[in-house]
Amino acid sequence: MSITLTPLADALGVALEGLDLARPIAPEMADRLRAAWAEHHLLLLRGQDITEEQQVAFATLFGPVSHRGVYMKDRQATHVSNVRPDGILGGGVLHFHSDHTFFARPLKAICLYAIDVPSSGGDTLFANAIMAYQNLPQDLKARIDGLTSVQLFDYTGDYNRRTLLDEAPTDAPRCDHPLVKTDEVSGENVLFIHEHTTAAIHGLDNEAVDALLADLMPYLNDPAIGYRHTWSPGDVLLWNNMTLQHARTDFDQSQARTLRRVPIAVSEAEANDATAA
Ligand code: OGA
Ligand code: MN
Repeated sequence: MSITLTPLADALGVALEGLDLARPIAPEMADRLRAAWAEHHLLLLRGQDITEEQQVAFATLFGPVSHRGVYMKDRQATHVSNVRPDGILGGGVLHFHSDHTFFARPLKAICLYAIDVPSSGGDTLFANAIMAYQNLPQDLKARIDGLTSVQLFDYTGDYNRRTLLDEAPTDAPRCDHPLVKTDEVSGENVLFIHEHTTAAIHGLDNEAVDALLADLMPYLNDPAIGYRHTWSPGDVLLWNNMTLQHARTDFDQSQARTLRRVPIAVSEAEANDATAA
C-alpha cells in the first residue's frame, strides 16, 4: 500500500493519506508509521470511520493502553466529551500541558478520534517542547538549569490557574521532575513546565515560580514551534506526550464535542498498574 506524507507545520506533525485504519495494518506499514511518528511527533489521518477496537489496534502500534487513573480502569478507551455522561475534560480552555506529569512516567502518547466537533472553536494546539527549550535565551536556560518542580494534579481544582502546593488536597498525585527533562523515548531534552500542574519549584517561593512561568510560557505558546488542529469528524491524531505539549481553545458549550481517546503507556508494567506513581 502506498501512503503519502505531508508535513502539517514547520515544527511538528505529518498528515498521512492512503491508509484505512478500519483494515488490518501490515507489519511493514506499522514500522513506517512508527518511523514517521518518531520524526514528526504527531500523526494525522483524516476521514477515518473506525470502531473502538480499530482505534486501539492503531494506537497500540506505539505502546500498550494505559489503564492508570479511574477513567481508564477496565477499559481500552474513554471519551473527551461535553455531552456523554461518562465524558472527561468536557468543556473550556485547557492551557499547554502534557498528560500525567504528576507521575514518574507520564503517558508516552495519546490518540484522539473525532466523532462530533463544534462548527468552530475547540481546536487542539500543539507545541514542540524540544524547540521551546532550544529557543530559550542563554540566561533563561541558566536560570532553570538544575531546577526541579513538583508536578501535582488536583482533580477538584480550577484547571485554568496554577495549583498551589499548600492548597492542594493531600491525596492529590504528585511527582518531582526536572524543568529540563530528557524524554526516554526520543532521548531529547524538553522544556518540562506546565502552568496548571507546577505546584512548586524547589528552592523558589511562589512569587518567583509565577515570575519564572511568566518568562517561560511565551516560548511554549510561540506559534512558530506549534501546530493548531481544527477538527473534522473522522480525524485521528496520535502524538508524543513528552516532546509535544497540547492545549485547547474555547468553544460554544451548546455544541457537542466528542473525541474517543486512547492513552498509551511507556511500558507494559506501567500500563497495567492502575495505581502506578
Ligand atoms: C487530552 C486533552 C484536548 C482536547 O485528551 O488529554 O487534553 O482538545 N484533550 O480536548
Ligand atoms: Mn491532555
